[in-house]
Amino acid sequence: MATALIILAAGQGTRMNSDLPKVLHPLGAAPLLHHAMRAGAALEPERTIVVVGHGGDRVRKAALAYDETAEIVVQDEQLGTGHAVAQALPLLAGFDGRVVVLFGDTPFIRAETLEKLAASTADVTVLGFHNHDRPQRYGRLVVENGELTRIVEFKDATPAEREITLINSGVVACDAGILSDLVAGLTNDNAAGEYYLTGIVAIARARGLSTAAETCPEEETLGIDTRASLAAAEVIFQTRARAEAQENGVTLTAPETVFFALDTVIGRDTVIAPNVVFGPGVTVESEAEILAFCHLEGCHISRGARVGPFARLRPGAELAEDVHVGNFVEIKNAILDEGVKVGHLTYLGDAHVGEHTNIGAGTVTCNYDGVMKHRTEIGARAFIGSDTMLVAPVKIGAGALTGSGSVITEDVPDDAVALGRAQQVVKPGLAKKLFEKLNSSKAKRQKEAE
Ligand code: UD1
Repeated sequence: MATALIILAAGQGTRMNSDLPKVLHPLGAAPLLHHAMRAGAALEPERTIVVVGHGGDRVRKAALAYDETAEIVVQDEQLGTGHAVAQALPLLAGFDGRVVVLFGDTPFIRAETLEKLAASTADVTVLGFHNHDRPQRYGRLVVENGELTRIVEFKDATPAEREITLINSGVVACDAGILSDLVAGLTNDNAAGEYYLTGIVAIARARGLSTAAETCPEEETLGIDTRASLAAAEVIFQTRARAEAQENGVTLTAPETVFFALDTVIGRDTVIAPNVVFGPGVTVESEAEILAFCHLEGCHISRGARVGPFARLRPGAELAEDVHVGNFVEIKNAILDEGVKVGHLTYLGDAHVGEHTNIGAGTVTCNYDGVMKHRTEIGARAFIGSDTMLVAPVKIGAGALTGSGSVITEDVPDDAVALGRAQQVVKPGLAKKLFEKLNSSKAKRQKEAE
């Protein structure tokens, strides 16, 4: 059956105490909203509707950055989860399928759980979890004679209802047409004066429709509403990401010191040493090696490449097979062809380096003139001497060589040697004379001071 997702992301998230809308706070280097969208995407929905409100423009942009086909609907006033869903439903007029409602601030729902929910045959299915500590704030699933009859919010619950340990996660699945009818029947006659989505369960029962509760581990339904819960979620995210990487055949020497992003992809038999941080947009092929203390973001590392220790790859760094990038090297928006070696203390930005070229220690592509960025092109099998300043825009031909310490401001043809440094002058015996002079004046001063 076709599925549509409605993701609620209009809330302010007051308890985050932030100007940033709650769903844009980062978890695994991606906005919380992307986690919910990714979880929902496992259902292969035909339609994805995101309800935005607080910080609407920014949330809209983030939603579209994840899925450009997502439809955005604005909830001007946050009058409750039922009201939020009501804003999305007109877009689904004529949609003949199952609707799954998710919260944008609930990042850990697993695909299997959503599939179970979407496949449920009850008219309304709600996802709950068991918690014997009876947490405050959450709604309770009221089950009578084995059937879910209603959901009561904590604020509205009697002391006996507050004792219920089956808790509402907020995730709901329902056929589109039925959901529209049920939501239309909601009122705001409750302690919060809100249109509660949870009210649809009792309305469904009153209309003779079937209702059911599915359950999942509480961790999957963890919602983020404070900085502390965000930090706790980061721990859960990283623990999961590390375990997944290991299951996929990646060696993590010290897993607890490696930090992944939501979209990190790493191939089999790649080895990751301690203290490596993956920002967004990193893909590493198989059999690569990332040594200790690397920071990687928006880059691609091919099979057999070796990076680090202490390397920084920034967006647009593309390392072909068997490239070696060593310590204290920064690479940005640069393509390094197969077998390039850039071992030490180097910055390559806005550059292309041909295959098997060697970049000496201390090389800098001087890519910025204070106003604009310029490119450096280096051919294959070239040799860039240590401490070469490549003042871009500049081209170094294939097989060319630059002398150490050169400042290269003009293009160098293929197979040429370029020297851009002062001529060396050698004065025989002068050092000895200088030291004798200095030592004698030091001795004279010491004598005068006595
Ligand atoms: C909701 C449930 C509660 C459940 C809890 C689990 C209702 C009435 N209550 O309560 O039973 O135990 O989630 O976390 O549904 N939102 C909007 N527009 C609104 C209101 C909310 O988009 O007008 C969005 C929020 O951005 C958030 C989600 O809906 O992503 C949940 O809202 P929140 O206010 O956190 O719901 P709870 O009161 O926690």
